[in-house]
Amino acid sequence: PPSRKGTGSFIDVPKDLLKEIKHLEQLFTIDTAKLKEITDHFVHELEKGLSVEGGSIPMNPTWVMSYPTGYETGTFLALDMGGTNLRVCEITLTDQKSEFDIIQSKYRMPEELKTGDADELWEYIADCLLQFIETHHGDVTKLDKIPLGFTFSYPATQNYIDEGILQRWTKGFDIDGVEGHNVVPMFEAALQRRGVPIKLTALINDTTGTLIASAYTDTSMKIGCIFGTGCNAAYMEDCGSIPKLAHLNLPPETPMAINCEWGAFDNEHKVLPRTPYDEQIDNDSPRPGQQAFEKMIAGLYLGEIFRLVMVDLHDNREINIFANQDIEKLRRPYTLDSSFLSSIEEDPYENLSETADLFQNKLNISPNGPELELIRRTAELIGTRAARLSACGVAAISRKKGFKECHVGADGSVFNKYPHFKERGAAALREILDWPEKTNPKEDDPIEILAAEDGSGVGAALIAALTLQRVQSGNM
Ligand code: GLC
Repeated sequence: PPSRKGTGSFIDVPKDLLKEIKHLEQLFTIDTAKLKEITDHFVHELEKGLSVEGGSIPMNPTWVMSYPTGYETGTFLALDMGGTNLRVCEITLTDQKSEFDIIQSKYRMPEELKTGDADELWEYIADCLLQFIETHHGDVTKLDKIPLGFTFSYPATQNYIDEGILQRWTKGFDIDGVEGHNVVPMFEAALQRRGVPIKLTALINDTTGTLIASAYTDTSMKIGCIFGTGCNAAYMEDCGSIPKLAHLNLPPETPMAINCEWGAFDNEHKVLPRTPYDEQIDNDSPRPGQQAFEKMIAGLYLGEIFRLVMVDLHDNREINIFANQDIEKLRRPYTLDSSFLSSIEEDPYENLSETADLFQNKLNISPNGPELELIRRTAELIGTRAARLSACGVAAISRKKGFKECHVGADGSVFNKYPHFKERGAAALREILDWPEKTNPKEDDPIEILAAEDGSGVGAALIAALTLQRVQSGNM
């Protein structure tokens, strides 16, 4: 077997393959100077999104206008329509400060629903809710309406907290007749048809939920991020810094959570170093030209980028990897998800035998030793690039808001499960923000990205509670 001496140093790898590895390194590596350039542009684009003219980052006001105190109480339902699963929770915020009880059920979102018909989507969701309530409360006809926080994690325009006009589908969704429309009446109509006793109190984004849920238990949390199927962030702005809301004459110091929708950063391709593989992902997606940043970072795309590299190295490059093998399975779009890359990066063995097994089992391909080295390095490059780019977004919000020290609450499968994602992101943040080397490795970074509280569950419940409080106090 080839000897692996750790990242970037290979022995027993033939020259032509080494050349390909170097080429991929050039394509996918983002150095400190480039990270800083991206961050500078990002700060500018965040500002632009808040302006009257707008920019490519939507910067959506969410009507979440305060942090929780920790003393919110009540029982709420939360519905989480993320991108992969549908989750229904019942959350009780207890009298104990920052304490809650939760029961939940997960339902797999059938793949065909994501590109199907709007009615089918709403019916499916209403069915899941009905099933959940019947299981936990029995006969629905005897129940009063339960307040619900609906986590709808797509870009939506909100003039009120219980409204959400879908700007565009992201994360591979493509359902006709929803874009440009308020999703709340469609959702409520389906509930009514089924007799589901629910009152939608707030429609929220997962990032806003993450921000609020994290701040519930840690008041230094100033940014909520999702690094999962999609990638995005939210933070609290002052209305005085949101020119596009100036016509409402809100007091300038009023807080307003902004759902950035930063996945759309650099849709005009000014700074991101896109590879031909990124371009291909975009061209083949249901919304070409949209979500340029997200398509280089999010879990939905990492495995696909990797697949496109492999196919290219087989078909078009001199090296012709997996020569004389049937790569039919590898040719299927979106056949590899980010957990496939995670497993490659987790393979601890010198001879990469787990990676060999993965390829055999999933793709029916037997890579040779040097090819295994190439596979491992490609996964590292894609995973590292995603983590480093993510740090640009966090750095940009921090710079815009003047945060010198804070916590950032992060959730999502990539953040929680992808090996080294956190360390790579933290290292990039250090480079961008020019922090001095740590003298003690245990020392905390000034800005730390930490695992968040459950935003789409607890966060949605808290936002529903805050909304009801605001309504009851007659404050908008
Ligand atoms: C996509 C959605 C955004 C969501 C993110 C993470 O970027 O557009 O609303 O927050 O995915 O789920």
